[in-house]
Amino acid sequence: MNTEKIRRDFPILQRKVNGKPLVYLDNAATTQRPLSVIQAVEAFYRTYNANVHRSPHTLSFEATQAYEDAHRAVARLIHAPSWREVIFVRNATEALNLVAYGWGLHHLKEGDEILTTVSEHHSNIVPWQFLARITGARVRYVPVDDEGRWTPDDVRKLLSPRTRIVALGHVSNITGVIHPVKEAASIAREAGALVVVDGAQAVPHLPVNVQDLGVDFYAASGHKMLGPTGIGFLWGRAELLEAMEPFLYGGDMISEVTLEGASWNELPWKFEAGTPNIAGGIGLKAAVEYLEAVGLPAILEHEVELTRYALERLREVPGIVLYGPRAAENRVGVITFNLEGVHPHDVAYILDQEGIAIRSGHHCAQPLLTRLAAGNTARASFYLYNTREEVDLLVAALEKAARVLR
Ligand code: ALA
Repeated sequence: MNTEKIRRDFPILQRKVNGKPLVYLDNAATTQRPLSVIQAVEAFYRTYNANVHRSPHTLSFEATQAYEDAHRAVARLIHAPSWREVIFVRNATEALNLVAYGWGLHHLKEGDEILTTVSEHHSNIVPWQFLARITGARVRYVPVDDEGRWTPDDVRKLLSPRTRIVALGHVSNITGVIHPVKEAASIAREAGALVVVDGAQAVPHLPVNVQDLGVDFYAASGHKMLGPTGIGFLWGRAELLEAMEPFLYGGDMISEVTLEGASWNELPWKFEAGTPNIAGGIGLKAAVEYLEAVGLPAILEHEVELTRYALERLREVPGIVLYGPRAAENRVGVITFNLEGVHPHDVAYILDQEGIAIRSGHHCAQPLLTRLAAGNTARASFYLYNTREEVDLLVAALEKAARVLR
């Protein structure tokens, strides 16, 4: 992978922040966009902006084709059997809510169980807590070890005849751990549960094959994989989607409406009510094409190499506390840490003075941080355009923060 060449594709990486070249290490929050994504969105608005599926004119035909092709691109990326199984939504959060509302509300009864894990982002906890409150079901949590990992056996132990949904994060946004979703999915589905995967931190960083994983639903966000904000997707097995109730009701999701009722459009439009985020979908297609051209195996290898180097170098910083696994293998490029005696917001502020962008806070995963006895933390997250030199700048800035603030 030619990182220098890749960096030239991202206009924002040329800018300075506080007089220093930008070092963007907040990729788990959102990634930057290559020129091809920016240009795809611009080309839509400049040359063929129209609504989709509605009007019989050339602009609308072109927009419809491009928007449908975006579904095809996502299907190809995650190895979905059909592009009709790919539903565009705002983000992974909305995708998980779609399953909770569209499937969960209609199938769960009092005493049923939803199994998720302590490692999850709030978006894979809170919708299930809501669903449990409405239906009388119970949410149970697979525990994690001191490095934030769970095992398929941990999942097996908590499965019961009442488990209806098993909701698993593929990759943690705190530790970067790649969880054993495939093995857990096989155990859960054998026990009769539906397996829902939050892949927001996985799809951007490693090859994902939903058929090989053997899951039922898979959710992700476009903005974490070089695409625009406000576009994400839910993949689901066709037979489940066909049988499910829609989540949102209104225009375009219908086949026929009378004053007495309505019937539903074919997949995926049944789940895409109203005018969709057409520009977002078109931008996401360009993002998928960019990721495919670089190659997900190469991106993962780059992140593991960078993480190995960063873990080694960060240990030199006085007072640093690292959370998550000690090893760089089997994880993506996310490192969560604290400087002893310094609030992580102050660390992030000092780094920003050096042009380095990181996130601080609870990262929308409070139960995991509580389990790791971490509270608020700082987090550096890498992507395909980050370099060892940027890791060196991070370490130097942290050493400075340690000197100034401790
Ligand atoms: N979920 C995103 C993060 O981890 C926003 O920062």
